[in-house]
Amino acid sequence: MRISRALWLGISFGLGSSWLGCTTSSTSTPSNAAPGKVTPALVKPAAPAPTAWLDKQLSPDQRAELLLQAMTQEEKLTLVTGYFGVQQEWNKYQFKEARRQSAGFVPGVARLGFTPQWQTDAGSGVATQREAPPDLERTALPAGILTASTWNPQMAEQGGAMIGSEARSSGFNVMLAGGVNLMREPGNGRNFEYAGEDPLLAGTMVGAIVRGIQSNRIVATVKHYALNDQETGRDRINVLIDETAARLSDLLAFQIAIEQGDPGSIMCSYNLVNGAYACQNDWLLNQVLKRDWGYKGYVMTDWGAQHDTVLNANNGLDQETGVAEAGKYVWLDKLATAIRENKVAQARLDDMVRRVARALIAKGAVDDPVTPGPIDFAAHARVTQADAEDGIVLLKNQSVLPLAAKDKRIAVIGGHADVGVLSGGGSAQVYAPGGIAVPGLGPKGWPGPIVYMRSSPLTALQSELPKSDITWTPGTDLKVASAAAAKADVAVVFVSQWTTESQDFSITLPDEQDQLIAAVARANKRTVVVLETGGPVLMPWLNQVAGVVEAWYPGSQGGTAIARVLSGAVNPSGHLPVTFPRTLEQLPRAKSAGVDTKDGTQFEVKYDEGAAVGYRWYAKKGFEPQFSFGHGLSYTTFAQSKLAARVENGELKVSFTVSNTGKRPGKTVAQVYVSPEKGGWEAPKRLGAFAKVELAPGASQDLTLTVDPRLLANYEPGRNAFRIAPGAYRVTLANSAIDPGQTVPVTLPERVIAPK
Ligand code: BGC
Repeated sequence: MRISRALWLGISFGLGSSWLGCTTSSTSTPSNAAPGKVTPALVKPAAPAPTAWLDKQLSPDQRAELLLQAMTQEEKLTLVTGYFGVQQEWNKYQFKEARRQSAGFVPGVARLGFTPQWQTDAGSGVATQREAPPDLERTALPAGILTASTWNPQMAEQGGAMIGSEARSSGFNVMLAGGVNLMREPGNGRNFEYAGEDPLLAGTMVGAIVRGIQSNRIVATVKHYALNDQETGRDRINVLIDETAARLSDLLAFQIAIEQGDPGSIMCSYNLVNGAYACQNDWLLNQVLKRDWGYKGYVMTDWGAQHDTVLNANNGLDQETGVAEAGKYVWLDKLATAIRENKVAQARLDDMVRRVARALIAKGAVDDPVTPGPIDFAAHARVTQADAEDGIVLLKNQSVLPLAAKDKRIAVIGGHADVGVLSGGGSAQVYAPGGIAVPGLGPKGWPGPIVYMRSSPLTALQSELPKSDITWTPGTDLKVASAAAAKADVAVVFVSQWTTESQDFSITLPDEQDQLIAAVARANKRTVVVLETGGPVLMPWLNQVAGVVEAWYPGSQGGTAIARVLSGAVNPSGHLPVTFPRTLEQLPRAKSAGVDTKDGTQFEVKYDEGAAVGYRWYAKKGFEPQFSFGHGLSYTTFAQSKLAARVENGELKVSFTVSNTGKRPGKTVAQVYVSPEKGGWEAPKRLGAFAKVELAPGASQDLTLTVDPRLLANYEPGRNAFRIAPGAYRVTLANSAIDPGQTVPVTLPERVIAPK
């Protein structure tokens, strides 16, 4: 059966009343009028001209206010309701101004010159809802998890700037990109879209992507707020977590991304948090996001995550989205009625409108309207390739890589490496130039198809190493694959796992690829495994192979990037943003919650691990992972020296020197972990700061990093603040979360940090 997106999202078809027949009139009062204060009739100021808001000399706040004052009630309601943008039969709206096969559309207000909102997914580039015709093909960045593996915010910002420019050139002014959910479940089908398990790393990297996107004078969207950490039953899972744990983990990732990226919008998620749907959750939206963090942008629903007219409005939502069927919305006339019946204050609707308008004005999408235009695909290919080359992680290397002159005969096996590289599925799917490399794979309906992008590692390797004899074997027949490996000096096995939105996965490689690796490794000791996965996988064959490279989903130049890492043209510098477990038993939950509950039934997951997510959990439990958070090898060697920690103006500063002690230029990631001597945190250590540094052979660099004080603190709900307990702490400079590294003691004074 071909399943449509609408069906997946639970949008049902039926007859509903259209709001369009309903007329309403403006009852708005200027928001600055003090309650109870009567303005004398004689001095009633003249209403500003309807176009007064277009004055660029005014601040975005003033302009949004003037726009609001010029609007009718119906116009206000228009701005806060979004529709699916796709041209598919289940979409009963299909506005002719919507961009083709796009995620969303919000009509503008032509009378006042306010732009429509054209919304596109997502983090790897301009996505299309189903197989794209060639003119909708766009450059694909590597998956978010690969960009996070760069530990290089500048690279993330550059990538964001590139996809944001393609969004603008494709006629979009809102990009639904900035996914920052933490990896709590290694099997979450959307881990590839996110930035790993650590709040500092994920928040910093996603903040940088958002800055890059918005540098194109469009809005970016940090999502999915919050605790939407698995896909199984995503719209009926009730996540239970205490406030301290949430503030120190998932919420901190959002807080940092928002501070560093200043996104115009936030997308609230499908799930419930502590009993209330995220999109009508007063605590998440009104208290944490808007009050404590002072967020001035607007909150949009994930597609179809709106539930209740009054609760959505009163508990902090600003825009409903993804409406696909007449009557299946929560606002428009329903909100007008709720306002007339005093269930929702007019001021709340005005606040929604002000927020939406202000964001589009402040980011530049109003003064610099988007228009479809040409795209420099060649330049953008270089951007995505640079990102991939910075984030591919060399996990294991027993003197097998880089491939050398002595590797005359190279057997490349499996993973469709002759034609392309894998990408992750669902709404974030970008159709890259050249179309689908391996047609006909995966589900026929949503969330398929499985897309291999046309960037062949085999061809790229052949051009990198023209003197080697590089052969190709599909890997579907173990005997043929083993025979090819036996004849070669080195065997490179490509294995992959497709992951996607709306499904979770076991973290075992599918289709007997573990057996393929084992067979090839038996035939040739010099076997290198290249993984294309959306998250961690188990590696029962690890001890039998000489090298392992994690290439994630490496984007539309991924084949070239992989080949250049294998050949040594690129010195790998990616580091894991997630922990790879050794066994499922090491995880807080061996399988996703809710897999056994009936469709439609709500279920709970209690995050007993609290803020001890990822490496923090392993450190707390004393578990040794397969590969640790922060791990990543290089073809050169680095040394660290002169570690010192001091408190300066209340901030913890960590200084040290990094040196390249090997023979090749390379990049290292300095990782600073912090620990309280007396314990009292959710786990013995946290990442406190990091920096990626490029060094020529023999070169050194002195660095001083500042530790974000929240990473030295506990969260105290009673004070509604973070608090650093005074006392003794340890600062560790290391190459991963399990590396003992070098340590210095430091004494910290008490400090209370208000939530914003
Ligand atoms: C996804 C969002 C996406 C939206 C629009 C939803 O299914 O969860 O991430 O932005 O669809 O396509």
